Amino acid sequence: MNTPDAEYAALLPWSMDAIRYDGIDRETLEGEEALFRLLACASFIEITSDLYTANLAEYFRDDAQVVEWLRHHWEPEELQHGAALRRYVQTAWPQFDWDRAYQGFYAEYSRCCQLERLAPSRSLEMVARCVIETGTASFYRLLAESAPEPVLKDLAGRIAADEVRHYKNFYHFFRRYCRREQPGRAAVMRTLWSRASEIDAEDGFIAFKHVLRVRHPERGVDRHEYEQFLRSIRGTVRAHFPYRMALKMFLKPLDLPPVMGRVILGSASAATRMLLR
Ligand SMILES: [Fe+2]
Ligand SMILES: [Fe+2]
Repeated sequence: MNTPDAEYAALLPWSMDAIRYDGIDRETLEGEEALFRLLACASFIEITSDLYTANLAEYFRDDAQVVEWLRHHWEPEELQHGAALRRYVQTAWPQFDWDRAYQGFYAEYSRCCQLERLAPSRSLEMVARCVIETGTASFYRLLAESAPEPVLKDLAGRIAADEVRHYKNFYHFFRRYCRREQPGRAAVMRTLWSRASEIDAEDGFIAFKHVLRVRHPERGVDRHEYEQFLRSIRGTVRAHFPYRMALKMFLKPLDLPPVMGRVILGSASAATRMLLR
């Protein structure tokens, strides 16, 4: 099982020892089935980070600064997110056999999603990374805002801060490669949209399926049920989604003139709210 390499543990911005797992208020979590599903799915995907990102460091192999950051900071932090969420799920819902569900997830996921598709140039790959970190930062910020349980609020807040920092690092590298490759605004925009539309394409459903198979072995799980689940949490998402932060992060690589940026940010904020309604 994947845990951050002991060698890099000292470099982590926070330690799992600081999370008060023994103080989890399990009474508050009674009936929070949707939250359980979300956290179990997130733990599966985070703890498997190294599998689908194995080719990223290879892509940047002659850039020592990028490789050093990916290997010593980014990957150990993503794995810690997975390990910390796993521990939360195991402590809060001890009757759930996390290991068995994860085994099923890993077997299927490693067959279909071994390597991530990379963008055609390094600057655009950095844009794609910014989109993913925007998505994860928004998800954990939403969780920190809406979580009914204080230990989870604390954990989600720490993870959200890590994801924002990841974004900043990828953005910094993007700017550096931009000077060399000059990708142009249209190419950046295409990458932004194509990556945003791919988010949660397959991994979310695979994770959901294996969580439910162990949670409710008596019944089958299909895509329809997954879609129903997503619809059922739409109200919470609408109420707590950090629209402004997400859109600001998403649009930043386009480097729009300030006035235009403000106009787009305003209208895109409203459009996103409408879409989530
Ligand atoms: Fe993460
Ligand atoms: Fe991240």
